[in-house]
Amino acid sequence: MSTIENIDVIPQSGWTGAEIRGVDIGKPLSAAQVGVIKQAILRWKVVFFRDQQLDHAAQIAFGSQFGEVTPGHPYEGDVAPPEFPEIHTVSPKAYGKRYGQSYQKRLSANGPGWHADVTPLINPPAYSILRAETVPPYGGDTQFTNVAAAYEGLSPALRALIDGLRAEHRFGANINAERSDERVGDWVRSKPLASIHPVVRVHPESGEKVIYVNPSFTRQIVGLTPRESRHILDLLFEQVALPEYTARFKWEPGSVAFWDNRAALHLAPRDVEHLGFDRVLHRITLVGDVPVGPDGKPSESLSGEAFLAARPRETAAA
Ligand code: SIN
Repeated sequence: MSTIENIDVIPQSGWTGAEIRGVDIGKPLSAAQVGVIKQAILRWKVVFFRDQQLDHAAQIAFGSQFGEVTPGHPYEGDVAPPEFPEIHTVSPKAYGKRYGQSYQKRLSANGPGWHADVTPLINPPAYSILRAETVPPYGGDTQFTNVAAAYEGLSPALRALIDGLRAEHRFGANINAERSDERVGDWVRSKPLASIHPVVRVHPESGEKVIYVNPSFTRQIVGLTPRESRHILDLLFEQVALPEYTARFKWEPGSVAFWDNRAALHLAPRDVEHLGFDRVLHRITLVGDVPVGPDGKPSESLSGEAFLAARPRETAAA
C-alpha cells in the first residue's frame, strides 16, 4: 500500500487493480488528488472506490476532471436518462431496450466476452467509469485483466511477430449481429462501426506495449488466412485471460470502478441472469486517442465517425 496526499492506494492483485481510499470523488478534486488517481490507474490499470455518493451529474463531473466525457455509447439511441446523454446504463432492461431481448444471451463466437469499451471506433474511449446503483446479493462481479503484463508474458519471438500485425474490430461481428432482426441488427446495418487497429498498441502515456485484440470485437487479423488468424487470436485471447493477470471486483452500492481501456480488458458477469437478481450500473467513457502500433502507424477507420465529447467542456454536467 502507498499513501500520497492522504490517499491510500491498496493493490488488489499482483498485476491488476488497486482500491483507492481517503477521497470523496463526489466533490471537486485538487490537482494533487487527480494526479494520485491517474498514477494509480497508470500502474494498476483499474482502480476501485467504495461508499461513494454519486448521481449522474456527479459521476459526469468526476469524469470531466480526467478528460472529455463522450455520449454514453455510439448505439445509445433513446436509452440514456433524460438530460444525461453521457450515461450508459448497464442492466438487462437497458440492454434489452438498446439492442433487443436476446442480445445479452447470445454468446460470442470467440467465447467469453473480454473487451475494452467500443474498440470498433477509430478512437475507442480512453477510460471508463462504472458506478453501481443496484447490486445482486451475491455474484455479478466484474473481472479485469492487465494487457500490458499479458504482452510482457509472451516469448520475445511471439512478441516480435504480433508487433507487426493489424486486426479488424467490428461491432457485433462475433455474435452475427448483422443477421439479427432485433435492434442490434438495425444498428450494425444502418451505422456500422469498424476499424483496423494494431494488434499491439503502444500506450500513449506509459509507453508500454499492450495486446490490443479482444474476443468481443476483433474479427480477423489482416493479411493472414482465416485459419492462421483464428489460431493467433485464440492464443492471445487465452493469454489475456490467464488468471495471474486478472482481478475480480465485487460490487456494493456506492462502488465505482475507473479503468484505462488502453491497458485493461474487462469481463461482465454471466452468473446472475438465472437468479433473476437486479443489477444496475451506470457507465461514462472519456474521449480516447487513435491507437498507434510499435511501427508508429495509427489505426484506420473502415466505418463510423470519431467518438468525441457529448457537449462542450464548460456546459458538461452543469
Ligand atoms: C461494461 O462492459 O462496461 C459493463 C461491465 C459489467 O457489467 O460489469
